[in-house]
This record gives sequence, C-alpha cells and structure tokens, in this order.
Amino acid sequence: MLASEIELVEFTPAHLEGALMLSQQAQWPHRIEDWAMVLSLSRGVAAIGHGRVVGTAMATLYGDDVATINMVIVDEAMRGLGIGKRLMDFALDAATDRECRLVATQDGLPLYEKLGFRENARIVQHQGQIAAISAPQGVEWATAADVAEFAALDQAACGMNRRNLFALLAEHGRFAVIRRNGHISGFGVLRSFGRGELAGPVVADNAADAKNLLSFLLAGREGNFLRVDTYDDSGLATWLTESGLSHVGGGIAMTRNAAPRENTTIHTFALASQALG
Ligand SMILES: CC(C)(COP(=O)(O)OP(=O)(O)OC[C@H]1O[C@@H](n2cnc3c(N)ncnc32)[C@H](O)[C@@H]1OP(=O)(O)O)[C@@H](O)C(=O)NCCC(=O)NCCS
Repeated sequence: MLASEIELVEFTPAHLEGALMLSQQAQWPHRIEDWAMVLSLSRGVAAIGHGRVVGTAMATLYGDDVATINMVIVDEAMRGLGIGKRLMDFALDAATDRECRLVATQDGLPLYEKLGFRENARIVQHQGQIAAISAPQGVEWATAADVAEFAALDQAACGMNRRNLFALLAEHGRFAVIRRNGHISGFGVLRSFGRGELAGPVVADNAADAKNLLSFLLAGREGNFLRVDTYDDSGLATWLTESGLSHVGGGIAMTRNAAPRENTTIHTFALASQALG
C-alpha cells in the first residue's frame, strides 16, 4: 500500500474495532470501552487504507484552553511514511490554539519534538496484582454531590477544566475522599481499564494523603490487576512496589504552547490515564 493511497477521515464509532486492532498490535492494553471513552471526549482522525484503519490520533478537549493529544498509532507495516505526521497535523488542528499536552513513548518522541512539544515531566507506570492492604482511617467513599468539587480540585492541581471527564468518571468509577474541617482536601478514582482496573486521578495535598487514598481504593482487592500512572517525583514508587504494583515502564510528559502556571498546594499524584492526562 502506498502512503498516497491513505485517506484521513473523522474518527467515528465505526472505527473503534479497527483502532482496537492497532492498539493490540502496539501491545497497548486498551479495551474497546477504553477507546470509546476517549472518543466520547475527543475529536479524532482515522487513516484508512484499502478499507482498513491503519492509523489513529485524537485531541481530547478540556474547557476552552487545553487539549491532550493521544491514541497516536500507525500500523507497524506503514510506519516511516509520514502518516504519523499527517495524523498529528489533524489532531493539532482540532486542538486549535489550545495548550496541548501528551505522554510520549520513545517511538513518538522524535515526531513530537519536531512538532514543537517539549518535555516537562516523567511519568512512571506501576501495575500488577494488588497485595493485601487494609483501609486507612480518614478516607471514605464519596457521594455523588462531591463530584463537582472534585472537578474544581482537579483543575487547581492540573490546570485543566475536565468537567466532561468527571461526568463520565461519575458513571464508571468509584471515588474515595478525604475531608478536613468540612472541606474536601483530596480524592481518588478507581475504574475498569485495560487488563483490570486503574486508579486515577488521585489529587491530594501531599504524598501521605495520596497513599491513603490509594490504600482505601485498593483495600480488599487483593489479587486484582491494577495500574497506576504517576510522576517520577511523586514519592509513591516504593510504596506502590511494596503493594504489588511493579514499575513496568513510563513515558515523557510533553507540552506545546504551554500557558504559565501558578504554584499550587494541591497536586496530581496519579493520572486519569496517559491519554487523558
Ligand atoms: C509514533 C508513530 C505514530 C509515528 O508514526 P509514523 O507514521 O512512523 O511517523 P512519520 O512517518 O510521520 O514520521 C514523523 C517524523 O518522525 C520521525 N520519526 C518517526 N519515527 C521515528 C523513530 N523511531 N526514530 C527517529 N525518527 C522517527 C520521522 O523521521 C519523521 O520526521 P521527518 O518528517 O523529519 O522525516 C509510530 O511509530 C507508532 O505508531 N508507534 C507505536 C505507537 C506509539 O508509540 N505511538 C506514540 C504514542 S505517544
């Protein structure tokens, strides 16, 4: 197949099956539900060759000013032909003049650097079978009414207005919360993803609270498969490893057109996913 025979079209639910085959080929763990969740928050593009999906990319739009670029994959037989660049041009157009963020693999790094993305953090991926963990004091399950506050706290931590994502998480996830003096001071979310479950976002004032939120989410789930994507300076690595979640890889967090950000006292300790930030 020649690169000139590849047509780029808007990604629709009809492309999900083909996209799933690509992510499986790249050994990503996504289920079709995981693709569908990202699509429902995004504008995407599919590269079609001989009626088959041979490439994908999406821009997930948060509020008016930020997008995450994700699900960038080209069929391994079609790489090095400029398809990745064409997909990225579409995703960046969909993101208009927003700040764009992504988590790069080693494969994607050269392409993103050429497009003006710059490294701003390192992501570490921990996963495995959860060890026996007991629920800590001071954490409880959240109520539906808390979710709007979580979105505000999340925005303070990461600078993205992700109310659209939180509306979905409220349907699909379970939220743990820490309250202090009548205020919410941290929360964490657990949901199904990939080979099992994923914990994130986890937003808290400090690593001790983040650990307690995670412990609460993990308690009683011994033996279940769980994934956590965190920052290399989160202070959680040793505890995650002791809890059965080995360090299995990671990625490079990059931004383009980054807006200056104020220092905050609240921080993101685990991502919603590498795709969603
Ligand atoms: C990343 C990926 C999408 C790139 O797709 P592609 O179609 O091969 O990329 P292109 O052919 O458009 O290349 C774009 C540019 O990056 C460069 N590039 C691509 N892969 C490269 C590599 N492995 N090493 C060095 N440069 C590379 C190309 O030379 C090209 O630069 P140029 O335009 O100056 O020649 C593809 O490698 C892939 O699907 N990898 C597996 C999934 C993945 O990791 N995706 C990234 C997620 S963050």
